[in-house]
Amino acid sequence: MRKLLAFSAVWMTLAIAAQSTWAEPAGKTFTKDVAPILFKNCVACHRPGEVAPMSLLDYETVRPWAKSIRKAVLSRKMPPWFADPAFGAFANDPRLSDQEISTIKAWVDGGSPEGDPRDLPPKPAFVEGWKLGKPDIVIDIGQDFAVAPGNDAYEYFTVPTNFTEGKWIRAAEILPGNRQVVHHVHVSLVMENNKVDGADSKTTAFRTQTGQFWEVKVGLSRVRLDAPVVDDACANAPTELQNLSGFEEGSFTAMLPGKAPDVFGDKTPKWIPAGAKLRFQVHYAKVETPQTDRTRVGFYLASRPPERPMRRFDLRNRYFLIPAGAANHEVKRCYEFESDKLLVSITPHMHYRGKDARYELVRPNGRRETLLYVSPYNFEWQLLYRFREPIYVEKGSRMIVTFHYDNSPNHRGNPDPTQVVRWGDRSEDEMMTSWIEYLDAGPSSFSRQTVTETAARARPAGP
Ligand code: HEC
Repeated sequence: MRKLLAFSAVWMTLAIAAQSTWAEPAGKTFTKDVAPILFKNCVACHRPGEVAPMSLLDYETVRPWAKSIRKAVLSRKMPPWFADPAFGAFANDPRLSDQEISTIKAWVDGGSPEGDPRDLPPKPAFVEGWKLGKPDIVIDIGQDFAVAPGNDAYEYFTVPTNFTEGKWIRAAEILPGNRQVVHHVHVSLVMENNKVDGADSKTTAFRTQTGQFWEVKVGLSRVRLDAPVVDDACANAPTELQNLSGFEEGSFTAMLPGKAPDVFGDKTPKWIPAGAKLRFQVHYAKVETPQTDRTRVGFYLASRPPERPMRRFDLRNRYFLIPAGAANHEVKRCYEFESDKLLVSITPHMHYRGKDARYELVRPNGRRETLLYVSPYNFEWQLLYRFREPIYVEKGSRMIVTFHYDNSPNHRGNPDPTQVVRWGDRSEDEMMTSWIEYLDAGPSSFSRQTVTETAARARPAGP
């Protein structure tokens, strides 16, 4: 009996082995095995006219890159993603599965054959320009702006929405008029009386900063070298300094290098009140020759008013000082939750010298957890990290944000390790910012009346 069992086990193993060999007689091919992976995970960027250097849509254009592709996926350099997998689970995590990686590896190791053209899946369809498809409403900066050669510049454009009634926005996409010069864009809401939905707007963050500790050149502000220094704003920080506790309200939508357009969701859209104006802050990069730009924002309307609108709180420490040559300079900022919130996403922001970013939460019962650890931080990829499920945070919890900066000569891309670096708009200066999307988890602070009035009127409207 025993013998028989052993025998049948061996036979079964053989049968299974034989079966899988029959299933894949000729190894992995482009058309059958690899193209589906590339179409799903790579071609959003790797196609003509997009950010990546080569198209991965056709065998002819993929084949010369086979070895690089193998290397880029094995090292997980591609698709770009910088959250340490030890912490948190993210809805927009683009990383390939181990299975997908081994398929690509096997295909390259097997000589990268094309395979049967009939196996090729249909190429994904893209709407040129707008990644999210045709917007319901498009608003531009109101002029063909002439970008002068020379320096980085921040330019501000305030334009009316002409909305006669408020609108719920499920997604927003900023389309640069001229990709060669537009480095990043923030679009904020401005009301005549500087109020949004009855609350004092706190969106001063995206204005030119002024005051005794600041200097301003061509719209670019920076903290003076002799301003007070606070690297650890979690310790007792001087209260006369701006916004080292509490939060600032975020911009409405942003375009940053490597970041996907903002999708707030049909169930948790953002609100633009009637009469609001849009304020574009456009960072124009240094160019050699004169250029023009007409940047636009596209809005996608939600189908109905939400129970909880999407909001954003921003945390900044503007008063750090990174010594020349410092290889691992730590800067901190804390935030005490003054109400219950559901955290939706986090976007850390530094410039060239950014090294890593850690977000920790200390609950009222003292439990400490890491929500997100971005390491290494990469200025070319300013990604948003959206939690798989919103994280419930009760009032009285504390968020601890810890960034490190590498101002040593070893840091690739460090513009000048001999400089002492402080906060400033230029990419050669630094920032310590976090943009955090959230929903109110307590009784909604959003005016019930507005919601009901809007409910009565809400229906998608044309441009
Ligand atoms: C979000 C946009 C984006 C996605 C998604 C993406 N790439 Fe890239 N890829 C880029 C950009 C931009 C570059 C050039 C800059 C760089 O190397 O970081 C690049 C570079 C590369 C390179 C050259 C790497 C090198 O070391 O020179 C390879 C190979 C590559 N990508 C393969 C892939 C593959 C395979 C996928 C999908 C599994 C993928 N990429 C997904 C944007 C993207």
